[in-house]
Amino acid sequence: MSPNKGILHSYKDYLPVTSATPQLTLHEGGTPLIHLPSLSEAWGVNLYVKTEGVNPTGSFKDRGMVMAVAKAKEAGSKAIICASTGNTSASAAAYGSRAGLRTIVVIPEGKVALGKLAQASMYGAEAFEIEGNFDEALNMVREVSEKEDVTLVNSVNPYRMEGQKTGAFEICDVLGQAPDVLCIPVGNAGNITAYGKGFKEYDDARGTGQPRLFGFEADGAAAIARNEIVPQPDTLATAIRIGNPASWTGAIEAVEQAGGGFDAVSDEDIVASYRGLARTEGVFAEPASCASLAGLRKKLATGEIEQGSTVVCVLTGNGLKDPATALDTSDISPVRISNDIDVFRSQLHQEEGV
Ligand code: F0G
Repeated sequence: MSPNKGILHSYKDYLPVTSATPQLTLHEGGTPLIHLPSLSEAWGVNLYVKTEGVNPTGSFKDRGMVMAVAKAKEAGSKAIICASTGNTSASAAAYGSRAGLRTIVVIPEGKVALGKLAQASMYGAEAFEIEGNFDEALNMVREVSEKEDVTLVNSVNPYRMEGQKTGAFEICDVLGQAPDVLCIPVGNAGNITAYGKGFKEYDDARGTGQPRLFGFEADGAAAIARNEIVPQPDTLATAIRIGNPASWTGAIEAVEQAGGGFDAVSDEDIVASYRGLARTEGVFAEPASCASLAGLRKKLATGEIEQGSTVVCVLTGNGLKDPATALDTSDISPVRISNDIDVFRSQLHQEEGV
């Protein structure tokens, strides 16, 4: 048995869990907070990453989904629906299957990473690809959920926020207090809102303090950072390819309350952080996740985040979700050799000399 019994158990006192709430779990939460010694030294900060890719379906969505699906089940719902850039659909499909609910997912055509597509189909979700982007897909499922007997499990469902705020609790539990700064990627802006809520509630209950919150969007999808809707968002970080975030207002309020800000990072900087993190620290996160690290680097350069700070970057999803981007952006591929030990050994000596 896993010692981690899932967030509905670990944080029940802080969640809307009642005696009627099903004890749903795939052992989500309890993800590692990993110190990064090389980058800490290079950048002059005390840097940790919260590796949310370790969750059951490989992203932070599982924290919110377990709560939302448990509450849907408690309310007698028979079906759940969501729009997704991939991770929400994977998570909804897994928890939907676990809870015995019909699961319907709507995704933007051609823009969902391979691993996420594989997950939704393996867990048995009914998937629809629309000729449109995430924002359009979200409008569609919102309307359907108002007219049909099906529960919407996007982050506009308040139970999603409740579950996701437990990421903030865990960081405080490990560090003994909140860090100085939290850096987090922003797409639909639900997670930054949830972290803001989590740090605030824990501070009120336990005096753990609150970090400044910095949210980073991709340059081609920087609605909040630029304060304008992006009708045709575009970025290699497909998870955050969102032009009209649903939790825009909540995210702004969270950042105003805690201090911090929003900014945009280029795809080039996201890829540099993505590769650097894997090569220097042994941590493989999906591209969108690495907007948090790219953003930290930018803010250290401008001085908005001070040297010496304790910083947590949230790595929202597992690198294995998106193998195509990994292969496309890495310059390492296997050296082809004949099946001969001498050739192999002489090749090893050549490589060593490089
Ligand atoms: N990182 C990853 C890996 C994501 O999948 C998402 C969102 C975000 C960051 C941004 O989080 O939306 O709360 O600001 N993915 C959603 C999805 C939109 O459909 O899977 P956010």
